Order: sequence, then structure tokens, then C-alpha cells
Amino acid sequence: MQIRTADRADYFGIKAVLDTAFDQPDESRIVERLRSDDADSLELVADHHGDIIGTVMFSPASCELASGDILRGLGLGPVAVTPAQQSKGIGAALIEAGLEHFAPYPVAFFCVLGAPDYYARFGFTPAIERGWRWAADDGSIPEMQQAFQIRLPRPLPAGAGVIHYHPAFGL
Ligand SMILES: CC(C)(COP(=O)(O)OP(=O)(O)OC[C@H]1O[C@@H](n2cnc3c(N)ncnc32)[C@H](O)[C@@H]1OP(=O)(O)O)[C@@H](O)C(=O)NCCC(=O)NCCS
Repeated sequence: MQIRTADRADYFGIKAVLDTAFDQPDESRIVERLRSDDADSLELVADHHGDIIGTVMFSPASCELASGDILRGLGLGPVAVTPAQQSKGIGAALIEAGLEHFAPYPVAFFCVLGAPDYYARFGFTPAIERGWRWAADDGSIPEMQQAFQIRLPRPLPAGAGVIHYHPAFGL
């Protein structure tokens, strides 16, 4: 199994992985909109002898601080592994390869919406713990607040912030 950058020839296979892993097409539509908006900052695939069995997308996100300053970061997701191949470390390999790819770049933060039990292993913590929130979350669902997580490659000054995903997410 090889983790590599996606190319156009992979798009059909990526859609199949997303649609089966999520059991609906919303995520593959988001990915298609990100590509057409040139907001596909990094798209990786897990390639097993020519079969696409996993995928992860990173796209631009921003965090507006209370000071009015804007931090530039990246949204992680969607990430998916074809159901028959899950729990073999492929999701982790995709996420780690993506995070490593951006290590030389001045990415202020990564954000993800997902299970804290899964993303904690990659250094994500609930955004709410440092007073950051996802713009689409009105705070009424505590589980949502825990699910929206950030990872800071470098220390940042304390202070509240509101994170926006790229408009292709439709949020
Ligand atoms: C989430 C996903 C990408 C993980 O990929 P994977 O290759 O199966 O994951 P890995 O093999 O790296 O890790 C497996 C571990 O993740 C855990 N895990 C997977 N999904 C999880 C979830 N939703 N909540 C908590 N833990 C989860 C497994 O229980 C397993 O735990 P263990 O290591 O303690 O045994 C994959 O399960 C998937 O495609 N799920 C459906 C789509 C989805 O929910 N995507 C994420 C939305 S943000």
C-alpha cells in the first residue's frame, strides 16, 4: 500500500471510497467543490496495487481572533477508508502523511470535526479548550463542541477565535 498525492485518474476511485465509507454522497460532493474552487490544498490517496482504498483532503480554513487578526490554517477532511480495509492503520497513515507534508509550511492550525478518541492520537484537542469555536456551531450541542478539534503545529498566543472552513463545505 502506497500513500501518494491524488491525480485526476483517481477521482472515480476516491468517490467510491467516500460514498461507501460515509454511506451517502455529501462528502464526495464537498471534495468535488473543493477541487473546482482550487481549494484542494492536499489530496492524498492510499493506493493498493492500483485500487484506491483510502483518501484524505486538506483545504484552507481561517481563524478570526478577537483582535481581528486572521490566522490561516487547514481543515482536515473528509478522510475515509473503504470499509473492508478499515482498522488496519490506513486512516492513520493518510492523516500522518498529510500532517508531515505541511510541517515545513507556516500553517497556524489544523482543524477537524470528528471523534475525539480517534483524532487525539494525532495531537488534536477540542478547540473549545482554548476558546476557539467552529463558526457553524451555535454551542447548543456539547458533543459537537468536543468533536470540533484543532492541532497547533507551533504555540500561539492565547485568545478566542472563530474558525471558518472553505465555503465549499456549504456551512
Ligand atoms: C475514520 C476512518 C477514516 C479511520 O480509518 P481507519 O483506517 O479505519 O483507522 P486506523 O486503522 O488508522 O485506526 C483504527 C482505529 O480508529 C478507531 N476509529 C475509527 N473510527 C472511529 C470513530 N468514528 N470514533 C472513534 N474511533 C474510531 C478504531 O476503533 C481503531 O481504534 P484502535 O486503534 O484503538 O483499534 C475510517 O474508519 C472511515 O473511513 N470511517 C468512515 C468515514 C468517517 O467517519 N470518516 C471520518 C469523519 S471525520
